Amino acid sequence: MRVALGVSGGVAAYKAAELVRRLQQEGIDVQVVMTKSAQEFVTPLTFAALTGQKVITDMFGDESAGANVESAIEHIAVAQRIDLLVVAPATANTIAKMARGIADDFLTTLYLATTAPVVVAPAMNVNMWEHAATQENINALRGRGVHVVSPEEGYLACGMTGAGRLAGVEAIAKAVCGRLGIEHDLENETVIVTAGPTCEDLDPVRYLTNRSSGKMGYGLAEAAARRGARVVLISGPTRLDPPQGVEFVSVRSTEQMQAALVEHLARATAIIMAAAVADYRPIAPETKKMKRGDGRVTLELESTPDILAGIARNKGERIVVGFAAETDHVAEHARAKLESKQADVIVANDVTAEGAGFDHETNVITLYSRDGGEKAFPRMPKIDAAHRILDRILELRRAGRELSATQRAR
Ligand code: CTP
Repeated sequence: MRVALGVSGGVAAYKAAELVRRLQQEGIDVQVVMTKSAQEFVTPLTFAALTGQKVITDMFGDESAGANVESAIEHIAVAQRIDLLVVAPATANTIAKMARGIADDFLTTLYLATTAPVVVAPAMNVNMWEHAATQENINALRGRGVHVVSPEEGYLACGMTGAGRLAGVEAIAKAVCGRLGIEHDLENETVIVTAGPTCEDLDPVRYLTNRSSGKMGYGLAEAAARRGARVVLISGPTRLDPPQGVEFVSVRSTEQMQAALVEHLARATAIIMAAAVADYRPIAPETKKMKRGDGRVTLELESTPDILAGIARNKGERIVVGFAAETDHVAEHARAKLESKQADVIVANDVTAEGAGFDHETNVITLYSRDGGEKAFPRMPKIDAAHRILDRILELRRAGRELSATQRAR
């Protein structure tokens, strides 16, 4: 999602920096556009550092370099690129220009040029806010479908008290997310996600593991957190950074992963076992480095505990999702795992298919559910696949609630 954040000149301009951060947490790409007077309050450098992108400050590019055609038509490019325009803080002057269709700077020109939804968060002195001119302009914008996040009452920078203070960052972010269709539909869930491989030591320097990158599990953790869930990510060794806003537990072996799950289980409402858990481990790992010798070496392995099956047995109301990474007879194996692991959903993928499986950015998944449901999805980025899996969890949760309501009614 791409959002242009228009910052106009008021004391509250510094709060726009906080808004940038908040929108980024939702995975939104933010392009900041500043009016001339906004730059009197905050420097473009602040926003450039936060967004990692050039801040648009005027219509015709860098004045010292002279006007250029690219800059002059950039508003059209930005207008077409964005999914939403939010103006925060919006001064009385900017609101008036927007209401009358005056386009004398980049921000107001962008407003006219874009067909994307618009959110406006006004901030100004109480008398300016209550002035008939401002109220008329605000109503004109509302009438055109602009979402206005009303200013709050309180102590204002000018020393007066009343309505005019910029709404809270949360309220503005909520309005933006609502218009973008980013829902916080997992607010009531606490999700444990396992990810990555587990490692089983042979000796202090060697171990058995597999090719899992952790990308699918980390994608699930990120997607669930963005949708408002509390997330515990239990991960074997990977090269990935944990997503923002998740509780991260780092483990190495299957035994450690199992222990971490047991520790966090009580508060979980859903468990997603995306980890590629080692099925076998050496019976007796060497405490000293094994020395090279002539001839063959035989490793004696024992099976590791089946974490998923163990949890699913006592799952209660929890929704349990397992994975089946297969190379053949995908449907058959996935259905068998639904039974043997007592999972609610098995996410199956053919790791030999193009653009699927280990270390790919994309995946091709089919969801098999205990209620007999089967849904195949085309190849898609792992983060999108993660959202489809979370959608299924929500469907099952709603179906469960409806069932208990009917049972109660009987
Ligand atoms: N799993 C687990 N504990 C294990 C092995 C696997 O919890 N010791 C979980 C995985 O995280 C995954 C699911 O079980 O969600 C299926 O993993 P997979 O390795 O495909 O299944 P296995 O039961 O090991 O079957 P096989 O390897 O024979 O296909």
